[in-house]
Amino acid sequence: MKRLSLYILTLALILGLFPGRALAAEAPSKELVLRPAQAATQGSVTFRHASHAKLECAGCHHKIAENPKDLKCGGCHSDLKEKKGEKSWYNAFHAAGSAHSCVGCHKALKQGPTACNKCHAPKK
Ligand code: HEC
Ligand code: HEC
Ligand code: HEC
Ligand code: HEC
Repeated sequence: MKRLSLYILTLALILGLFPGRALAAEAPSKELVLRPAQAATQGSVTFRHASHAKLECAGCHHKIAENPKDLKCGGCHSDLKEKKGEKSWYNAFHAAGSAHSCVGCHKALKQGPTACNKCHAPKK
């Protein structure tokens, strides 16, 4: 129960139901192509800030309250091998129980893609 209410509170914060903290930087208007620094097993992922404009910046950039420059996920989620844990690159984007992750938020809100090939381009 405690975990569930925490999750709901996090979602509410992310969706901006409470006054949020403004970020000095502007969200990039062009698409970002995300891929790991080394050998990938999946095709790259195209991310558009424009599709996520209703969300709080800190919903995804969850460390910017501490340091506004911490925008790059891979700066901390740098472990390309492990699929679990706080350093895992994979977990940052797929963690089912976290609204900070792409897949976790899409599942919780029932919006946005959850199928692999709706995010990952075909592998070249
Ligand atoms: C739905 C998730 C999400 C939201 C909401 C979001 N961003 Fe991002 N943003 C990302 C991701 C993912 C990246 C790519 C990070 C990486 O390359 O490691 C990114 C990258 C950026 C970058 C480029 C960093 C760089 O050096 O390339 C800036 C600047 C940025 N975001 C600003 C913002 C601002 C300002 C907001 C709020 C108005 C915002 N973002 C909201 C997910 C999000
Ligand atoms: C400055 C370091 C840092 C940056 C930058 C960062 N994270 Fe994190 N992240 C962490 C740490 C540390 C944790 C462990 C929990 C905590 O401290 O919040 C975490 C936890 C997470 C979790 C929860 C994992 C789980 O198993 O529940 C997700 C999802 C996540 N981060 C996604 C992202 C995404 C997406 C980005 C980029 C938009 C990002 N993080 C940027 C440090 C960072
Ligand atoms: C906090 C919640 C949240 C997070 C985190 C999030 N999304 Fe979304 N995403 C949404 C919502 C809500 C929509 C539906 C927006 C709409 O259709 O108006 C969406 C839609 C999308 C779409 C379909 C629209 C388009 O731009 O093609 C893609 C693709 C997408 N998200 C990719 C991502 C990726 C990649 C990440 C992680 C880097 C991510 N999302 C993180 C909430 C989120
Ligand atoms: C909502 C978007 C989204 C969905 C759905 C999604 N992913 Fe990802 N995935 C990402 C993002 C963003 C990254 C980070 C960029 C990258 O590494 O390509 C990533 C990275 C990965 C990685 C690590 C890098 C690599 O290519 O080896 C693997 C493995 C992966 N995804 C597998 C999957 C599988 C399998 C599925 C379906 C079960 C899936 N993903 C569904 C967004 C998504």
